[in-house]
Amino acid sequence: MSKTEKDLMDAFAGESQANRRYLAYSQRAEDEFLHGVAKLFRAIAEAETIHAIKHLRTAGKVKSTKENLEDAIAGETHEFMNMYPEMIAHAKEEGQKSAEVGFDYANKVEAVHAQLYKQALADPENFPVQDYYVCKICGYTAAKDIPDVCPVCGANSKAFFKID
Ligand SMILES: [Fe+2]
Ligand SMILES: [Fe+2]
Repeated sequence: MSKTEKDLMDAFAGESQANRRYLAYSQRAEDEFLHGVAKLFRAIAEAETIHAIKHLRTAGKVKSTKENLEDAIAGETHEFMNMYPEMIAHAKEEGQKSAEVGFDYANKVEAVHAQLYKQALADPENFPVQDYYVCKICGYTAAKDIPDVCPVCGANSKAFFKID
C-alpha cells in the first residue's frame, strides 16, 4: 500500500469518526438548549461525510453494489462472530456493565444486518423498496412493519423511527 493509499484510509477513518462525534455533540447541545451550536455541529458533520466518502472513493473502495453487499456481509459477520463476542467477554471480565449491554445490542443487531444484506445480495434487481424502522435504543432494524416490541432490547414500538 502506498503512503497515499494509507493516508486516504486514515483520513476516511478520521472523517467518519468526526461525523459521528459531531452528531453526538449536536444531540448534547440540543439537550443543553444550545440550538445554534447544535445546528453548527450538524452542518459540519455533513461536511465531514463529504470528505469521508470522497477519500473512500478515491481509495477505490467503493465497487459494484454486488461487491459492496459482499463486503458489508463480511463486515457485519466479522462483528457478530468475532469482534463483539470478544468485546463482550472483556466487558464482563472488567465488570463494565454498560459497555457489555451496548456490545450485546450491537452484536445481536449485526446478525440481523448481515441477514438483510444477504437477502438483498440474493437478488438485488428484485429487492423491494420497502419501509425500514430502526430502534433508537439498540439499532435493531426491521423491514416492512414496526415490531410491537423490539426483539433485541425490549423497547416498545415508540422507540422505532422510520427511514426516509
Ligand atoms: Fe450492522
Ligand atoms: Fe431495540
